[in-house]
Amino acid sequence: MSEVKVAENVVTVEIMGRKYEVPQGITLVQAMWYTGHEMIREIGCLGGVCGACATLYRTPDSHKLKSGLGCQIIVEEGMSFSISRSFPVRKPIYHLEEIDDPKQDLFKYFPEVAHCRNCNACTEACPQGIDVRTGIWKAVFGDFKDASDLFMPCVMCNLCVPVCIAEISSNQVGLYVRRAQSVFFSDRHPILLKRIEEIKDGKFDSEWETLFSLSEKELKDYQVA
Ligand code: FES
Repeated sequence: MSEVKVAENVVTVEIMGRKYEVPQGITLVQAMWYTGHEMIREIGCLGGVCGACATLYRTPDSHKLKSGLGCQIIVEEGMSFSISRSFPVRKPIYHLEEIDDPKQDLFKYFPEVAHCRNCNACTEACPQGIDVRTGIWKAVFGDFKDASDLFMPCVMCNLCVPVCIAEISSNQVGLYVRRAQSVFFSDRHPILLKRIEEIKDGKFDSEWETLFSLSEKELKDYQVA
């Protein structure tokens, strides 16, 4: 009887429903490449900060559907996963300079935010370990300082969005809160204020003109003296 040879240093994974053998120790994104899957829109930084590689996966030791960043998760024997394609997220249009009361206007741009049912699915889905549910409640009660601190590590991967039974785009709420906190409720550093004045006074106009006059190739070679 012939011996079945088990390949060493490989694991068997299921990618979008099909089984593959891939080297141990590589990330899910690398496994996608290794198996010939084209990925353009779903990757960016490869360092866990751009949020482009949102991934859903299962491991054999659990019944749970898990989520994470594909460039940060290492393949495991028996794992199945799909890197999620982009899906529509509601992005309200607002201009901070036209807002009088950002805490009140939270409900104008995100009326669904008041319907949070405390299920905590957003927090469980967050690959950054953000307590998203608490962040939403802090925002609802006007504590923008704490809410923006909570949402600070958000990489806008959108994984909190499809799991929300109240249809809240929590990452978009977090972005609004962070922006509002910065514009309305935070002191600006004196160096930043000075630099803004210098820009207004035209201190850097000649540098801008130089940059805008360069071709794409010249721009690539350009180095500030
Ligand atoms: S590619 Fe940027 S977070 Fe994964």
